[in-house]
Amino acid sequence: MAQAMTQDEMKKAAAEAALEYVESGMIVGIGTGSTANHFIDLLAGIKGKIDGTVASSIASEERLKSHGIPVMDLNNAGQLSIYVDGADESDKHLNLIKGGGGALTREKIVAGASDKFICIADESKLVDVMGKFPLPVEVIPMARSFIAREIVKMGGNPVLREGFTTDNGNIIIDIHGLEIMQPVKMEADFNQLPGVVTIGLFAQRPADVLILGTPNGAKVV
Ligand code: 5RP
Repeated sequence: MAQAMTQDEMKKAAAEAALEYVESGMIVGIGTGSTANHFIDLLAGIKGKIDGTVASSIASEERLKSHGIPVMDLNNAGQLSIYVDGADESDKHLNLIKGGGGALTREKIVAGASDKFICIADESKLVDVMGKFPLPVEVIPMARSFIAREIVKMGGNPVLREGFTTDNGNIIIDIHGLEIMQPVKMEADFNQLPGVVTIGLFAQRPADVLILGTPNGAKVV
């Protein structure tokens, strides 16, 4: 009998399917996390085809360099053709929760600077209503208590991610207990709080393509 596919194998299947979006001469935006890591490892096999990459985290930059894949500063790369990254949750409109790995701010910058955002994930990430996965928010350290109080007023339960500092030197508060019915509005509401660097909702700029790894291979949503 065939063995069931693991979650990690489904992530890899999605990453493999995303390779088809990579065209000659592109500078490719690269996300962060275990699914993005699969994509990086696979990209190594066709690294001669691309002009370079822009990484959304120090971890991804190091992994790319370990494969000999050139990494550029976004300021020198101009507009990117594609950005490939994972997600913690997606709804059917391709609004996302990201930031489980804490790289949400740089991820949102690179996604924003890309023509097409290709999200790769295993099928468990697709949900009806987002919020079961705690929504990460990157916060300037001095604003920690203030932002926690504001989160409570907005109906969430703030939990400091202990012992974690982002690549930008900030903290992450994970917001539990949300049911995200209006992701675009929630993203705007949180982002306007002073001290918030980025909320991990990608709804004003959702993904353009969602590739889900399933037990039967990758499927495009
Ligand atoms: C990192 C992210 C990741 O894309 C997200 O956490 C998904 O991770 P994984 O691919 O390991 O499931 O947003 O900040």
